[in-house]
Amino acid sequence: MNAAETAGAWPRHPGLDGKVALVTGGSGEIGAATSRALAANGVKVGVNGRDRVAIDAVVEAIEAAGGQAVAVPGDVTDPEAVARMRETVESALGPVDVLAPFAGGQGRPVPTVELAPDQWRAVIDSDLTSAFLTVREFLPGMVERGAGSVIMMASSAGRLPSGANAAYAAAKAGVIMLAKHLANEVGPAGVRVNCLAPSAVLNGKMRRFMPDEERERLARAFPLGRLGMPEDVAHAVLYLASAASSWVTGVTLDLTGGRVIA
Ligand SMILES: NC(=O)c1ccc[n+]([C@@H]2O[C@H](COP(=O)([O-])OP(=O)(O)OC[C@H]3O[C@@H](n4cnc5c(N)ncnc54)[C@H](OP(=O)(O)O)[C@@H]3O)[C@@H](O)[C@H]2O)c1
Repeated sequence: MNAAETAGAWPRHPGLDGKVALVTGGSGEIGAATSRALAANGVKVGVNGRDRVAIDAVVEAIEAAGGQAVAVPGDVTDPEAVARMRETVESALGPVDVLAPFAGGQGRPVPTVELAPDQWRAVIDSDLTSAFLTVREFLPGMVERGAGSVIMMASSAGRLPSGANAAYAAAKAGVIMLAKHLANEVGPAGVRVNCLAPSAVLNGKMRRFMPDEERERLARAFPLGRLGMPEDVAHAVLYLASAASSWVTGVTLDLTGGRVIA
């Protein structure tokens, strides 16, 4: 059974029932699978993104399965929108225990000399500054309560040179270091910070823009012989959010089917 086939029956992880999570980029495929997996474990989930229709679809699917979720739309590159997002999720669900700043994904290949300065800044904003702004807004409450799990979203592009653009690679390498820095800073307060670094995870963009043969060729480049699925990421989130990982912080977890072995 691969990870996608487990989606209907998510495993139960210890200590999650009744917690509150916020997933930025929850309207995207990885964020949506993560939101569903957390909700299936009894977590009340704030689902963020900018596309209200896509966010509502994730919230409705969670509610239809008996879970609890609220839509918290907002652009996470805007500090004021992030502050409003925290107020909305906290007033609807309570203080956030599990923070998954997953928004981003501007990795499309562009030769470095063709990256305009504005494009560079936009990717850094979308894939690094957004994570900083989100963490900055939610960490003080976690530190005050002496508990919390932050699960940052990097990429294998931040671990090794890849086909992604240089700004994305630099942003995701920055996310990895941000997570390590924070793990060291807030560990004494009882807050854990870990980071995921997936390689190619099948999403809508890949389905739309990558022909089948190219996808199959890419899949064969992975020692485990397949692409990642959003559910592979969601399973890792469940572990890092739960009490099963209560002695794990500062870790970068490579979700790459064996392609990155560091
Ligand atoms: N798929 C992969 O192969 C892969 C591999 C490694 C890492 N990742 C990372 O995983 C994360 C999710 O990727 P995905 O594959 O699920 O991509 P996706 O389907 O394109 O989803 C991207 C998500 O990020 C949200 N987002 C982007 N910019 C935002 C902003 N400024 N404010 C609020 N939301 C924003 C999008 O929201 P709206 O569409 O609603 O605006 C969407 O929910 C990204 O950080 C990506 O870099 C993906």
